[in-house]
Amino acid sequence: MTSTDTRPELAAGLVFPPGFTFGAATAAYQIEGAVDADGRGPSIWDTYSHTPGRTFQGHTGDVAAEHYTRYRDDVALMAELGLSAYRFSVAWSRVLPEGAGRVERRGLDFYSRLVDELLAAGVDPWLTLYHWDLPQALQDRGGWAARDTAARFADYAGIVHDALGDRVRHWSTLNEPMCSALLGHMSGQHAPGLRDAVAASRATHHLLLGHGLATRVLRDRGAASLGITLNFTPMTPATDRPADVDAARRLDGQQNRMFLVPVVTGAYPEDVVADLAAAGAPLPVQDGDLATIAAPLDWLGVNYYFESTVQVGVRSPEKPTSFIGGEDVVELDPEGPTTTMGWGVSPEAFTRLLRWLRDQAPGLPLVITENGSAWPDEVAEDGEVHDPERTDYLFRHLAAVREAMDDGADVRGYFAWSLLDNYEWARGYAQRFGLVHVDYGSQRRTVKDSGRAYADLLRRHRQAPEG
Ligand code: FCB
Repeated sequence: MTSTDTRPELAAGLVFPPGFTFGAATAAYQIEGAVDADGRGPSIWDTYSHTPGRTFQGHTGDVAAEHYTRYRDDVALMAELGLSAYRFSVAWSRVLPEGAGRVERRGLDFYSRLVDELLAAGVDPWLTLYHWDLPQALQDRGGWAARDTAARFADYAGIVHDALGDRVRHWSTLNEPMCSALLGHMSGQHAPGLRDAVAASRATHHLLLGHGLATRVLRDRGAASLGITLNFTPMTPATDRPADVDAARRLDGQQNRMFLVPVVTGAYPEDVVADLAAAGAPLPVQDGDLATIAAPLDWLGVNYYFESTVQVGVRSPEKPTSFIGGEDVVELDPEGPTTTMGWGVSPEAFTRLLRWLRDQAPGLPLVITENGSAWPDEVAEDGEVHDPERTDYLFRHLAAVREAMDDGADVRGYFAWSLLDNYEWARGYAQRFGLVHVDYGSQRRTVKDSGRAYADLLRRHRQAPEG
């Protein structure tokens, strides 16, 4: 079965309930550029991307997709695609250039104009407060490894809500705290680029504490649709040998359960607590923290890209582990076709994940806040971008969501990652995830075939809503 053969009938058979949210997502540092505009302060991603050797060919987000100046055109594109919602993040250091204290009105005004533009175009804004770009000034005071950063995050949340809360209904605190904590502090493949288990464990807890404190602030100000976005990677042992089964348990613990379970139950999983303590990096929990972290939410944001098969083994020194005490575990190369990220394609694992979440977080609606794939796209001679692999990935994953819904998973929406090709962090501009192609020389946008296919699906749902 070639992947493209499956696509038309899959798309034709896909029907989501009335009111289902169809959107696309981006993040501030990945698209905005304009890093010195309007008083913006530096973030840890400016520092990291400008450090030689950290990113693919030294790419930085300095210019990115110039969304800061082109946002009106980008909103027009969203309207053209028929998106009902747009998920974006606010850059903390545009609002508070030093991370705390002095508020930069011009930064807030940018997001205010963006929100107005979205509402005028009939696109519902879904705002994420933190997508990895901590103000450098706060990093200089210890970053997420310092408990105080959680309180500063709550202050920032209140300031953004005071400016935009009259128009933005949907608020998310953090995007993928697993990546901030573990990729940022354990493997060092993301900013701030540390390799320190103790800092990673501390960052984990302080991110979650910041989430809880910010949730309280937003709730007190009347926010009615509040969530957090977590990234999930299902972990399967390569064999049934006890050591491999335990390796999968440990990685699943830190990747998936360490972030989900405290948010929904108010306790860290006991096995994870023990693993971290055994690695000399205990979670720095203080009295009352877990009750704060478990503040009630209205939805859980789910980011899913791929699954992983793991076993004990010797890691190559160039690939430090992202997991505390995970030095003896290797992730196997995926079977079958991979995206340009090297990620496998497993919609079945997505369905399984959503069934698992249905059971882990009963009563909590799920929103797919990211899902997508990178392929070697080019503008063809006919001026179009033909990306059948992305269309195939998109519709097979939408079908996986639909299947989980049939099994009782309460999924309310789907945001494709990403609206635009953008700065894929340490992988730079070489990885293209957009439904819309960006020519970085001219900043010309071209809707890809996958974007058109998504727009067709959305149009069909607007015209003939069915249950
Ligand atoms: C997620 C990030 C997002 C993007 C995608 C590909 O982990 O949240 O910014 O980089 O991966």
